[in-house]
Amino acid sequence: MSTTQLQVNGVARRVENGSARSLLSVLRDDLDLTGTKYGCGEGRCGACTVLIDGKAVRSCITVLEDVAGKEVRTVEGLEHEGRLHALQQAFIDAGAMQCGYCTSGMLMSGVAILEKEPSPSRENIVRAMLFVGETPLTDPVAGTSAFAAEFMKQGPRDKQGRSLRDLDLKRRLLRYPLSYLVYSKSFDGMPDSLKSYLSRRFHEVLSGQGTSPDFAHLSEADRKAILEILKDTKPDF
Ligand code: FES
Repeated sequence: MSTTQLQVNGVARRVENGSARSLLSVLRDDLDLTGTKYGCGEGRCGACTVLIDGKAVRSCITVLEDVAGKEVRTVEGLEHEGRLHALQQAFIDAGAMQCGYCTSGMLMSGVAILEKEPSPSRENIVRAMLFVGETPLTDPVAGTSAFAAEFMKQGPRDKQGRSLRDLDLKRRLLRYPLSYLVYSKSFDGMPDSLKSYLSRRFHEVLSGQGTSPDFAHLSEADRKAILEILKDTKPDF
């Protein structure tokens, strides 16, 4: 019989005869930590992301014996003394759950970034909100879920009926690559100096100023459409 010992959310755990199994399976089936989800099972979607010694890792392709003696954190470990992690609260405030299935993976990836870089630079926010580094879809997202229609309905829309919540689902998830979180309370609650920096940089990038290859994923049509949407839906920004 083999025994694997590890720390999970600060508690010492022992797993018998599981060393060759995936960490995801052990978390869900043995330790009853079902907040971590099975999505693709191939290390691609991120739904199963947990932190191992502070680093975001796909638990579906991580073998239990590789985490022996290490500290594993799952979404259940984010809450502290009955209070949600600030990122969890921000997701709630911004209505950022979408269908909710992979929210725990997004949270754990976000926590890993924030713990590594607690005060992200202003330019990091610009890059994140303009989806720099977004992985293109390799196949269209298929299905007939009412979720997509419900998600897009939440607008706001410009005079041509376009919204930052419009989904693409063929080449990428969202049709216009600027995060709809510009409409969130969290965004509006940021210090004025930060908001004016972001406004200036978004307008610079979208109007084609600056030649950073980081923004090469934004086509001329993307930039024009986003500027027009912002003009109609967030005129003071
Ligand atoms: S389930 Fe998709 S990356 Fe693990």
